[in-house]
Amino acid sequence: MAEKEVLLVFGTRPEAIKMCPLVLELKRRGHMNVKVCVTGQHREMLQQVLHTFGVVPDYDLHVMKEGQDLYDVTSRVLLGMRDILVQEKPDVVLVHGDTSTAFAACLAAFYAHVPVGHVEAGLRTYDLESPYPEEYNRQAIGISARWHFAPTQAAREHLLREGKDPARIYVTGNTGIDALQTTVRPDYSHPELDWARDSRLLVITAHRRENLGQPMREMFRAIRRIAEDFPNVKAVYPIHLNPLVRQIAAEELQGCDSIHLIEPLPAEDFHNFLNRSYLILTDSGGIQEEAPALGKPVLVMRNTTERPEGVAAGTLKLTGTGEAAIYSACRTLLEDLEAYRLMAQAKNPYGDGTASRQIVDILERELHAQA
Ligand code: UD1
Ligand code: UDP
Repeated sequence: MAEKEVLLVFGTRPEAIKMCPLVLELKRRGHMNVKVCVTGQHREMLQQVLHTFGVVPDYDLHVMKEGQDLYDVTSRVLLGMRDILVQEKPDVVLVHGDTSTAFAACLAAFYAHVPVGHVEAGLRTYDLESPYPEEYNRQAIGISARWHFAPTQAAREHLLREGKDPARIYVTGNTGIDALQTTVRPDYSHPELDWARDSRLLVITAHRRENLGQPMREMFRAIRRIAEDFPNVKAVYPIHLNPLVRQIAAEELQGCDSIHLIEPLPAEDFHNFLNRSYLILTDSGGIQEEAPALGKPVLVMRNTTERPEGVAAGTLKLTGTGEAAIYSACRTLLEDLEAYRLMAQAKNPYGDGTASRQIVDILERELHAQA
């Protein structure tokens, strides 16, 4: 029987963090020919992750350019994938989540009649403007994907309601939890954590396209007021490399001694920062999955979330992006220890860290059944 080939395509930091465990598991098994194509939608932030996991791509499309818009990324990935699909003729293309890389790679595979496996399938807000354009991307991938690897039962139910074949939807947990299990260490240390040792540490991230501009300014103003009003609070903010984010962060947060603006951290460091934090404020998707596993409360600075499991588990609270609401939610968690305790319960709605193993089991079964 000819060896089957699986081509994994990813391009941004969060995709890489959640796809590398899958690459490593596929290679560890050694039953299939494994090829990795990075699109380079992100550059430095992607390289950090590849380095952490020791993954060396077979192809790099190098699509990133500063200030890239959605047309740039989508068209460059689509065209770049054309030759690779002709050359590799993979039996399956695996994409992750809802980025432009994932959408364009899925479309390219569809044009080449190559089946797609969608990792982290079925997340929905059903609001195409929030998150933008991710809600469109993931729904579009769902149209042509042959296999849907849903992290939770709720994600599976979205797919069922949309009429996907139940036999092709698998609830596997999230591969992000697999990654987390390899990075968090009790003996971890870092100069920034030493700086914050006797304070309550807030870890901040923000980058969503729909929040660029006034919403992001409001988020940062709320955080600055908190830092100024609570002397026993310190905040560390590893700023996304998006220049638009960096400009707003510089304008709103610089010059406040208890807020450290630092460069993006490698995943192993960042996961340990989360683990040592008192509270997390973010508009990120992946962090909403990691924090419940670590028992860390998260104020989600967004109007919608596709991760209702974390809200139901009590670890996530959706604040919106207004300054007053963020300030007030944060203040409550700093002053009301019972409210804090209720949110700081370690729950893990996103699986037991075996998602990659389950996905590889399914792929091996499905592809060999086709032989
Ligand atoms: C993208 C994804 C979003 C994901 C986010 C993760 C889409 C539509 N959006 O956000 O779903 O949550 O990545 O972070 O796919 N930059 C660098 N170096 C890097 C990375 C980024 O300089 O390593 C700068 C570039 O100037 C780039 C900008 O950041 O233009 C924004 O990157 P981009 O991938 O376009 O970000 P988003 O679309 O906001
Ligand atoms: N992360 C990281 N370094 C940082 C900030 C975040 O490794 O400085 C990780 C984080 O743990 C999570 C992922 O990056 O796994 C989230 O990426 P991002 O917020 O860029 O994208 P999203 O998850 O919103 O798509």
